[in-house]
Amino acid sequence: MEIIIKASLAEAQREAAEIIARQLRRKAASVLGLATGSTPIGVYAILTEMHKEGLDFSKVKTFNLDEYVGLSDDHPQSYRQFMQQHLFSRVNVAPGHIHFPDGRAEDIPAHCLEYEAAIRSAGGIDLQLLGIGSDGHIGFNEPSSSLASRTRIKTLTPRTVKDNARFFGTADKVPHHVITMGVGTIMDARACLLLATGESKAEAVVGMAEGPITANLPASVLQMHPDCKLVVDEAAATRLRRADYYRWVYENKPDWQRR
Ligand code: PGA
Repeated sequence: MEIIIKASLAEAQREAAEIIARQLRRKAASVLGLATGSTPIGVYAILTEMHKEGLDFSKVKTFNLDEYVGLSDDHPQSYRQFMQQHLFSRVNVAPGHIHFPDGRAEDIPAHCLEYEAAIRSAGGIDLQLLGIGSDGHIGFNEPSSSLASRTRIKTLTPRTVKDNARFFGTADKVPHHVITMGVGTIMDARACLLLATGESKAEAVVGMAEGPITANLPASVLQMHPDCKLVVDEAAATRLRRADYYRWVYENKPDWQRR
């Protein structure tokens, strides 16, 4: 895992946006796995600026990690609306190239299989953007999720419900169920980029990067991914024991590795 520590939140967001932009410049028809939550909002704002300067999304296909069960597509807290607001309405992604799990599917298991099939038929995900929950979840794969899991329904932990209450006003409005790509689905992406910022993520970050690989902290499985970048700000990096080494590696990267 490549661990990139940036001095500030803004610099961490910029680094993540640059990594995504490099991917699109290398392959215009990239398949992106996208994430919601507060962490990627700044990244999407930078990508919007880059789009104004020419970054092209017209050939890009997107698959979002997760969606709440039971919310209509136009519910203000649905992840479809979130993406529309923060990215899709601001760049030139073709509407037909956008994919979400359908939280209103009548047959959820069948729909989950279709979502997996759609990812495969798009050629697989080139770059998966991830956040991390304070409990170590990626997507909505809560602790105890199988590290080989595929897209399926999950029940949120009370901690995640509480973490996400800020979006809904009160915790009792947060749905308890979600459809999420599985840990195995995420691990199939050719590259992963996890952005974690702020002190509240420091414990999950040290667990995922330096702790044992365990279903109790699903993000830790990314230690097994052959191409995973973890971008953190100083606040999220405070507990990393090898922080000086990660900085040293980054400063000494050969130029060709930065492209
Ligand atoms: P956050 O959520 O970006 O809102 O902190 C991250 C996550 O739950 O994956």
